[in-house]
Amino acid sequence: MRNVTQDNITDVFLSYFGKDTDPRMLEVMRSLSHHLHAFAKEVKLTHAEWNTGIAFMERMTEFTDKERHEFILLSDVLGLSSLVDMINTVEGGTSSSVLGPFHISGAPDIPFGFDMKRHFEGEVLLVTGAVRDENGNPIEGAQIDIWQTAPNGLYSSQDPDQDTYSSHGIQTVGADGRYGFTTVKPVSYEVPTDGPVGDILRSTGRHAWRPSHLHYIVKADGFRPLVTEVFPDDDPYLDEDTVFGVRSDLVMHYDTNPADSFPAEGFELSGKVAADYLSVEFDLVLVRA
Ligand code: BEZ
Ligand code: FE
Repeated sequence: MRNVTQDNITDVFLSYFGKDTDPRMLEVMRSLSHHLHAFAKEVKLTHAEWNTGIAFMERMTEFTDKERHEFILLSDVLGLSSLVDMINTVEGGTSSSVLGPFHISGAPDIPFGFDMKRHFEGEVLLVTGAVRDENGNPIEGAQIDIWQTAPNGLYSSQDPDQDTYSSHGIQTVGADGRYGFTTVKPVSYEVPTDGPVGDILRSTGRHAWRPSHLHYIVKADGFRPLVTEVFPDDDPYLDEDTVFGVRSDLVMHYDTNPADSFPAEGFELSGKVAADYLSVEFDLVLVRA
């Protein structure tokens, strides 16, 4: 008979694995059990604390459904989503960044020059750039899935007053790789705090703010898909994003321009911009698969 102790429980746990266990599964479980058991021992976890942990996880499931992804949010505020992004980022391309829980698939195709701002109050932002490979060549046919919040800081999936695909669209670039659209200047916003993730933020004295950003998923045949987001350099939360998504190459600068400099053609808002507008040029670089 083998006596199970604090010192051997990790080895005992691993000895239960079948001999045909997938090697990667074994590697992950070996490390996970090692760190998990070491964590419990290091903090001398009490029964009361572990019961609180179990209750927390039960509440996590209560807050999770097809529209509300509390587990993604938990991974985001713990820094795990960003860590996984960074571990898997390939040198040479635009950095990846958190997908977040609010992406919805099936957004409509939008042509070059499309206006996503529509009726929303706020400054016009003209966004242009190109999708390129590591050598700077345009990638014809690349698709960019674009989404952002409305000026109230809510994604369409969070806000019954917005159309399903409000501030969402997919643009396919031509031979020059160029993309371009107008939108309303994105705002900083707080991640949802009405669930168990909010309890974690409050109990650790953290705020829930993210710096303003535009989300992109860029896909092209023969290239690794890129999930990322871009942030203006003057956002007050740039250095304290609650989900750790900011990378230096994802920071961009908005120029302020007089209304009469807006492109005379090629954009839905051409000839319709009456006040100063913002603009940014940002290239997205994909790495070959
Ligand atoms: C977002 O940018 O949409 C997001 C990312 C992580 C958590 C919450 C929201
Ligand atoms: Fe976002």
